[in-house]
Amino acid sequence: MGPDEVTVSERVATRPDRPAHTRELVAIGLIASLIGIGLALLIDWFPPQASTQAEKVDTLWDVLLIFSVPVFVLVMVIVLYCVWRFRMRPGEELLDGPPIHGNTRLEIIWTAIPAIILVALCSFAYVSLTDIEKAEASALNVRVVGEQFTWTFYYKDASGKEVASPQLYVPRGKPVHFTVQSLDVIHDFWVPAFRMKIDAVPGINTELRITPSRNGEYPVVCAELCGLGHSVMRQTAHVVDQPQFDDWLTKLASGATAGGDETGGGAAAPDGKTLFTDNGCGGCHKLADAGTSGGTGPDLDQVLKGKDAAFIEESIVDPSAEVAKGYSDGIMPPNFGDTLQPDQLDALVEYLGEVTK
Ligand code: CUA
Repeated sequence: MGPDEVTVSERVATRPDRPAHTRELVAIGLIASLIGIGLALLIDWFPPQASTQAEKVDTLWDVLLIFSVPVFVLVMVIVLYCVWRFRMRPGEELLDGPPIHGNTRLEIIWTAIPAIILVALCSFAYVSLTDIEKAEASALNVRVVGEQFTWTFYYKDASGKEVASPQLYVPRGKPVHFTVQSLDVIHDFWVPAFRMKIDAVPGINTELRITPSRNGEYPVVCAELCGLGHSVMRQTAHVVDQPQFDDWLTKLASGATAGGDETGGGAAAPDGKTLFTDNGCGGCHKLADAGTSGGTGPDLDQVLKGKDAAFIEESIVDPSAEVAKGYSDGIMPPNFGDTLQPDQLDALVEYLGEVTK
């Protein structure tokens, strides 16, 4: 090994000294981290902020990015720098650098800095999450029930009676307290624009609090793989002004929401086509008249052709009674008999009968 050792020490001697490497590495790492943070903050990660919680969640996200991007970038810079700078050149096959161990200063640094970062981030996350989950007085209570594969939202009307809605309506600026339940398997109630989500677990109540802060329509999604229809377990959250909400709730309680929604449909007779659209039927079913092309459920132009009203009604309120060939039982939500008022159901049946004759 004698001749090799000479070669080794010669080669080592011709390399830049360690402080020079360290300076270069730190400089590259710092610049790359700053670029990485800049890029990460530039990306629009989330949908609009539609709750007061959303702002705090997004701030927490940004803080986590600011700390975690440099960790990733620094590790990558060190790895790539070493591959580039200290790669094996021809003739260096037997070269091994001097062994290093017992560098106390380095060990203290790489233990202390991550520990401080972790404690700081955990504390900040704890404070943020406790803050957004705190109970507000005078909240609107909404019971959310998940089942394969739909959500139903229950509100108390003026007399304290529960009324069901297939769509979520909440008034802007008013704290809302959701009690989340499941009738079958585990689902997860999530409105991305509110940034909050919670599992719906059979047999227990889970809770979620948000304060809507921006009018609009936002998707309600199920965020727990719950079966074949998981991906279609989607509805709409409507954030509206308080007077519109009161108006909507009054109509819901009196069974006159059909076709009206926040535009105010008055007491007009329910419109079948609007009901078809509002209840999300088109998300799964193809129906030429309504211009929908969903493929999860049967093509209604075909399966309802020549069927009578009784068959159509049964298909809506008791979808398991007769399942179209080639489709699985249990994907169509079984709760339309509850969420549709009798006159709405009649209107929908009549409409479907008309357009599929
Ligand atoms: Cu319910 Cu996924």
